[in-house]
Amino acid sequence: MPKPATLVLFGGSGDLTRRKLLPALYNLALQRLLPASFAVVGAARSAQSDDAFRRELHDAVAEFSRTKPINEEVWGAFARNVRFVATPDDAGYDALRAALDRVDVEAGTNGNRLFYLATPPQAYAPIVRAIGKHELRGPGWSRVVVEKPFGRDLATAMELTGVVHEVFREDEVFRIDHYLGKETVQNILVLRFANGIFEPIWNRQYVDHVQITVAESLGVEERADYYEHAGAMRDIVQNHLLQLMALVGMEPPAAFDDRAVRDEKVKVLRALRPISDREVGARTVRGQYGRGYIEGRAVPAYREEKGVAADSQTESFVALRCFIDNWRWEGVPFYIRTGKRLPKRATEIAIRFRIAPHRIFTKDASEGLEANELVLRIQPDEGISLTFGAKVPVQGLRIRTVNMDFVYGASFMVDAPDAYETLILDALRGDATLFTRRDEVEQQWQFVDPILGAWSRGVPALATYNAGSWGPTEADTLIERDDRAWRRP
Ligand code: NDP
Ligand code: BG6
Repeated sequence: MPKPATLVLFGGSGDLTRRKLLPALYNLALQRLLPASFAVVGAARSAQSDDAFRRELHDAVAEFSRTKPINEEVWGAFARNVRFVATPDDAGYDALRAALDRVDVEAGTNGNRLFYLATPPQAYAPIVRAIGKHELRGPGWSRVVVEKPFGRDLATAMELTGVVHEVFREDEVFRIDHYLGKETVQNILVLRFANGIFEPIWNRQYVDHVQITVAESLGVEERADYYEHAGAMRDIVQNHLLQLMALVGMEPPAAFDDRAVRDEKVKVLRALRPISDREVGARTVRGQYGRGYIEGRAVPAYREEKGVAADSQTESFVALRCFIDNWRWEGVPFYIRTGKRLPKRATEIAIRFRIAPHRIFTKDASEGLEANELVLRIQPDEGISLTFGAKVPVQGLRIRTVNMDFVYGASFMVDAPDAYETLILDALRGDATLFTRRDEVEQQWQFVDPILGAWSRGVPALATYNAGSWGPTEADTLIERDDRAWRRP
């Protein structure tokens, strides 16, 4: 059980707090995983009373919790130590310090403080500086969780780290990438390193190529303000997709701890072959959705969405052809893609193996045979499948590809915890294994920045795709040039 602590939640009245953070905290309370002495102090610029804040959070939990209905007894005990302080100015921060000192006494939280920055990114640096200036660090431990996006390029990410380091040491900084908190993402490491059979074939000798897909059927929804300045590259590729790629590509760490795991991830990220201006046309695709249909429902084009410029150049789809230049992966393409308004929500990693080196069966017999494929379904339908060739049970020899399928739900019969439950608990425990370290984030920007630079000069041109399709035809061309094709998740 983590030590007593206060969670100081900047952005306490925001969307992320309502939809994710509070439901996660409530579910941790329900499972008795929170420290015995625990308090939440919400902060934002606009004032509200403690009671109004508690009511708002109660409604958010009732609506968004993965477990329903809300257990009022658990909620009541949790809500007793929930407060709100407005921090529009210096006086607000002084009031926050006084409130935190009071909470230490009233709730017995021992001066341990977890600061969570769930505000728009432009507020991160001013808030961190205010934490320093107003001496909000308590007499116990202090840590800071920083939401994504961490910077908008390498320079701003380094600048932000500089500001954060004025107040917190790097081992006190927890940069969130919520994909790392997903059960199935953690299971990539378990699959690879808790089993003896996969690692020997996890390399260029046996793997033909890897495909990683993060597909969403949702559009930009209510987040155009943010998304117009981010686009799919900054929103998904720079963080979630490159982290998935690092987990698939990394060498076995010596231990399952924050240092060993992150050391190995950063090595892979460093080995990512840069995409030069010369290659950007052939190795990258950026697309934007037009009108179309999702599950039979007509949906507007990206440029028709609320808050989006009529001539917006923001990409809602990205596909890249990547290489990891090291001994293990030399010459193995990693095709990665993400998009909004694709036909369905599906995140998966597919490892396509080389075909058998020598075919003893006739071409006719093995017509229905494809290369073996290991697919890690990250979400939904969480599971793992492996395809292989089997004899069709008829006279004579005919071979067909069949599927061996592991389904999480069927094997474990429990609801997986939400990623934010895992990550908040880890931050309270001080375990940073599932958070991204400074050098990882910087390496990710280092890869992405030159591509964004070329795109800003119009190379390649922004492609369009119909909402409800699998992206622009340019993405098919990207992979078909190598005589390969995208999987249909
Ligand atoms: P919202 O705009 O919904 O909420 C922002 C919150 O921050 C409000 O409570 C706002 O209140 C507060 N705030 C703004 N400026 C300050 C400040 N200077 N000091 C203290 N509080 C401040 O944003 P979201 O909740 O959607 O996003 C928050 C962060 O989480 C962003 O960085 C976003 O990228 C990230 N994120 C969000 C996701 C989501 O699904 N919403 C998913 C993944 C990441 P007030 O205006 O009163 O100050
Ligand atoms: C967030 C992005 O980080 O991840 C969103 O900002 C995206 O645009 C979301 O929709 C996807 O997360 P999940 O957990 O639903 O796959």
